[in-house]
Amino acid sequence: MNKINHIAIIMDGNGRWGRKKKKSRNFGHLNGINVIEKIVKNSIKINIPILTFFTFSTENWKRPKKEINFLFKLIDHYFTKEINNLIKNNIRINIIGNIKTLPKKVKNKLYESMKRTRKCKKIIVNLAINYGSKNEILEALNKLKRKNQNVSIKSFELNLQTKGIPNPDILIRTGGKRRLSNFMLWQLAYSELYFINKLWPDFNISDYNKIIRHFKKVKRNFGKI
Ligand code: IPE
Ligand code: IPE
Ligand code: MG
Repeated sequence: MNKINHIAIIMDGNGRWGRKKKKSRNFGHLNGINVIEKIVKNSIKINIPILTFFTFSTENWKRPKKEINFLFKLIDHYFTKEINNLIKNNIRINIIGNIKTLPKKVKNKLYESMKRTRKCKKIIVNLAINYGSKNEILEALNKLKRKNQNVSIKSFELNLQTKGIPNPDILIRTGGKRRLSNFMLWQLAYSELYFINKLWPDFNISDYNKIIRHFKKVKRNFGKI
């Protein structure tokens, strides 16, 4: 049985879900949060140590301002409301992506959430916010160059934003598109990929557990036979 260290999720389809319900795209984003909570809770129950959720990509800045503002407001409100529960449930929040250039209010909230949950041990929840894999790779190379270090797989990985985090064993993308959209291009080199047609707000624990059951039995070769 394969062991799971890390599951990464591209939560796609919120906007379409909102429109399908004859409401706004933002209504879909709002409902997407409940699914994150359920997945985290279930992951704790089945001892998954690390989760990563793709929350906002470097390309998502191309969306209408109204939607972008809503997404950041949602993140800000969520952590304001839930930070004590996260601590109580022993959930550590970590952010990957370029936080520095985010609006000040949400930036401070994210730093505060990381700081206040830093001793939590039950699960690490990584949120990829303003994250783009190509940027991450170039930044890692530039860091090595500045430090005059050799480029090796090991030194390179130590300069990625995922430093210290094992590569995902499983990638799940909901929403029916079969693409990576600039997410963890390096880290997913040997992950098992699951593309699900359901839109993110419709994704449920039974879908999640089915993927995990399937993964556990996959023969992972890593080049061997
Ligand atoms: C959520 O899904 C992903 C985020 C950027 C938050 P989308 O907003 O991309 O929804 P669709 O794919 O347009 O339906
Ligand atoms: C990927 O979804 C980004 C996140 C889930 C945050 P997108 O909806 O932005 O991806 P594309 O643009 O359809 O490839
Ligand atoms: Mg989308």
